[in-house]
Amino acid sequence: MRINKYIASAGLASRRKADELISNGNVRVNGLVLREPGYDVVEGDVVEVNGRRIEASEKKVYILLNKPVGFVTTVSDDKARDTVMDLVADVDARIFPVGRLDCNTSGMLIMTNDGDFAYRLTHPKHEMPKTYRALVSGVLSDEKCRRLENGVNIGGFVTSPAKVRIVKGMQKATLVDITIHEGKNRQVRKMFKAVGNKVEQLQRIAIGDIHLGRLAEGHYRKLTREEIDYLLTR
Ligand code: URA
Repeated sequence: MRINKYIASAGLASRRKADELISNGNVRVNGLVLREPGYDVVEGDVVEVNGRRIEASEKKVYILLNKPVGFVTTVSDDKARDTVMDLVADVDARIFPVGRLDCNTSGMLIMTNDGDFAYRLTHPKHEMPKTYRALVSGVLSDEKCRRLENGVNIGGFVTSPAKVRIVKGMQKATLVDITIHEGKNRQVRKMFKAVGNKVEQLQRIAIGDIHLGRLAEGHYRKLTREEIDYLLTR
C-alpha cells in the first residue's frame, strides 16, 4: 500500500496531509527518513510519523479468484514461479490466499486480508464442503463411486463421507463432481488413485453454496456481502 494511503488509513491524516508530512521529513520507514513519496509499504515495515509508530487498519477485502493451472498458491515463491498474487496485483490491500490449490489445479480460490475470516474458513471444525470437477482416466463404476463416498484410505488416513456425481461418462475417461469436507494434501487426486483412476484435470467449482459460475480463468470478483456472511456463519 502506498505510504500516503497507509498513513491515511491509520487515521492520522488525509492523503494530501500525509504527502506534506512525507515531504517535510516527518515520516520514517524502518528508522530512516522517507525521501520517496511513492513508497509502497511492505509487510514488516515499521512506519513512524513524528516519532510515533503507526499501523494502517486496512479495509477488509474478500475476493474470489478463478485460478488457472500453473500458478502456485503462495504469497511469494522462492523458485520465482508465477503465484496467485500476480493475478491480483491491482488489488490495493495485502490479501493472501485462504487455503491452497495445487499448482496443477484450477478454479475457485478465496483471497482476503481478514485473518479471522481465513481462520474460520480453513478450520477443520467448520467442515466447509468443497466441490471439485475432475476429469479422470477410465470408467468410474458404481462400486467405485460408493467407495469414494464411504471413505477410502489415502495413505494412513480414511476420508470422511463424500458426495460423487458422474457428469459425463466416456469410453476412456469420466467427468465427475466430488464434494469433500476435508483438505488433506492432494486429497482428491489421492482419493481417485485409491480406486484406480488417475486425475487428469482438476478444478474447484464450489465452496459451500458459492459457485465459480462463469468467471473467466485468471479473473477475480469481489464476494458479495451475502456470500461473506454465509461463509462466516455457516
Ligand atoms: N485436492 C487435490 O488433489 N488438489 C487440490 O488442489 C485440491 C484438492
